Amino acid sequence: MNQAEFINDSKLLSGILNDYSNIIILCDQNTEISCLPLLNLNPVIPLISIPPGENNKSTFSLNLIWNKLLLANADRNTTLINIGGGVITDIGGLAAATYNRGINFINIPTTLMGMVDAANGGKTGINFNGLKNYIGTFSEPEAIYILPKFLKTLSVSQIQSGFAEMLKHGLIADKQYFKQLTSMDLEFSNFEIIHFTELIKKSVALKDNIVSKDFKEIGKRKLLNFGHTIGHALESHFINSNLPHGHFVSAGMICETFLSHTIGKLDLAESQEIIFSIDNIFNRIPFSANEIDEIAHLTLKDKKNKDQIVKCVFLDKTGEASFDNDITIKDVVESLSFYNS
Ligand code: GLY
Repeated sequence: MNQAEFINDSKLLSGILNDYSNIIILCDQNTEISCLPLLNLNPVIPLISIPPGENNKSTFSLNLIWNKLLLANADRNTTLINIGGGVITDIGGLAAATYNRGINFINIPTTLMGMVDAANGGKTGINFNGLKNYIGTFSEPEAIYILPKFLKTLSVSQIQSGFAEMLKHGLIADKQYFKQLTSMDLEFSNFEIIHFTELIKKSVALKDNIVSKDFKEIGKRKLLNFGHTIGHALESHFINSNLPHGHFVSAGMICETFLSHTIGKLDLAESQEIIFSIDNIFNRIPFSANEIDEIAHLTLKDKKNKDQIVKCVFLDKTGEASFDNDITIKDVVESLSFYNS
């Protein structure tokens, strides 16, 4: 499995990219304005730029990328360079994995979410019929380059979004790391890049350690879905909102921590402590009691389900988790009612 390479100097990254003979860059219109200028790229490199946002992770945008690749005469020797957040690395990875039966691609994440999660591990995808990441492949990028300097281009809400995945890594695999994260100054408006880089490295290592043992998510990799069964249902329900992914994961982690206690093994005191820590960072997502049933039923479409039974990751303790726990719609409704209370 290819591991992310951390690059502190943007000139170094520009040098790597400018050395390629046959590349095409994919980014979104925000990245084009705020991140590309930091890279000083050779202006003759073809650029595909799509509108930003989760609702552009669609068959429409995928079609557009394939068409632009065709127009640019991309062939099997072309490498697609995905420069952006999770939307770009997910859809760019899928475009590359399918164009000409597969061309190489490189991920350069520009968001914290991308750095700690989306760009690593080889999941590609788009949303389909209102369902998150429903169409996609497991395809490894040729390389992942992380330039922490891009963090300074992000809003507080985007930093919080990536931070949700970092908390998840601690919760499922490393109690100390979770404690370290939750004892930080959590304003996110004036953080030290050097300090944050060490945390990103830790998260990437925790994720790589899991993915390297189960690339296709047959078993252990399912742990990385903690907070995502209910988080994705909420995100699908609010698919047209501009709230970044990690905020839904934070909500999903609260609901799934609740269930880890009510039907799993997690201690009450530990569950309360975890929920308190998450609430300390994220505002709860508002929805009405009338919406709960519809949100809960979206979990029936979760990709980890088997025979129409919803399977969920539970925390057994802080830093230890188990997967394939059966939950019912009633359980999901109870957890969402708890979240909403
Ligand atoms: N984002 C979860 C995974 O890559 O498996």
